[in-house]
Amino acid sequence: MTDTAPARITIGQLHDVARGYVKTALLRTALELRLFDLLADQVNDPKTIAGKVGADPRGIRILLDGLAGIGLVSSGGGDGYALLPGSEDLLVSTGAHYFGNAMKLSASDWEWDAQKNLIDAVRHGGTVTETHALTPQFDFWEDFAEHTSWFNNGAADLMAEQLVPWAAYRDTVEVLDVACSHGSYGFSFARREPRARITGLDWPNVLEVTARNAERLGLSDRVEFIAGDMFTTPLGGPYDIVMLTNVLHHFSEERATELLKRIRTAVKPGGRIAVVGHTFDEHDTPETNPLPYMFSLIMLVQTPDGETHSVATYQRMLEAAGFTDFQTHSGEKAMHRLFLAERPAEEPGQAAG
Ligand SMILES: C[S@@+](CC[C@H](N)C(=O)[O-])C[C@H]1O[C@@H](n2cnc3c(N)ncnc32)[C@H](O)[C@@H]1O
Repeated sequence: MTDTAPARITIGQLHDVARGYVKTALLRTALELRLFDLLADQVNDPKTIAGKVGADPRGIRILLDGLAGIGLVSSGGGDGYALLPGSEDLLVSTGAHYFGNAMKLSASDWEWDAQKNLIDAVRHGGTVTETHALTPQFDFWEDFAEHTSWFNNGAADLMAEQLVPWAAYRDTVEVLDVACSHGSYGFSFARREPRARITGLDWPNVLEVTARNAERLGLSDRVEFIAGDMFTTPLGGPYDIVMLTNVLHHFSEERATELLKRIRTAVKPGGRIAVVGHTFDEHDTPETNPLPYMFSLIMLVQTPDGETHSVATYQRMLEAAGFTDFQTHSGEKAMHRLFLAERPAEEPGQAAG
């Protein structure tokens, strides 16, 4: 018996879940119309706002009241709508942690439509859509590369902090970033380790965005690309470090291990693999840490057999692929866990000396 009885389910809670999609639509629309930017400029009555964004005043009034209803603006009690504390940072497009880009990904048309098929994905045990996250050159990944807020990515900083002191003792610092997308993991590291040379691998349409990011950061002369499929394209190398971030949840444990085995052959003996992923550990339950379990729902509709893997699964996969010295790291700002492991300097079956 537990000390406290579980909370009783309420009808209000169910209404809130049932209409969750209305909140998504509200925020998406307000961000698309840049309503928070106008409120920041003290444009705060529905008629003037409607004129500025080319919308209907009644529509804007209803939208603003809805936003006030879910606690994202103040209705001002007759003095005009106003921003709430925190908005300048998160909801105004010039804010340091502007959420508009994240919203384009979290509430993209593609993801929204895919969730409508959840029942089919549950019946089937995986995606039922013709085009999905693993489709070669899937255009959603172009948006992902473009809109990920990569300057504020705690996990990329965490990875760089862990790898830079280790890299100082290497003769060379050759890095492969597999499924690199925007490139932030390799680039954050390269900005701190001047000897680092980064090879980014992804589909060719995505690498166009990566190349622009490298140029913007003045790193183009230290960055190269391999365009193609990470399961079949020659990986080049060997490398001192291979990065593989936010990728393994797209696959079952078996398929992810296959990829890790392939990648191990491109790591120098004594070199490292750095993996980042959503995860949960043995103390977590869906009640105490819902996000990783909710993320599996996204993988269920978007991939044939992906899901969030536990810390123990990451360790098992890396060890089955021939890596040793498994470490996990998490940081205050990093939403995801970092796993580091080594390709042993001497592998079983290798003659010493
Ligand atoms: C979730 S994103 C992760 C991007 C980045 N590593 C990060 O941590 O944000 C997945 C990336 O994998 C790439 N991708 C998916 N399947 C691939 C494949 N078979 N070969 C190469 N890249 C692939 C996608 O284009 C996308 O850029």
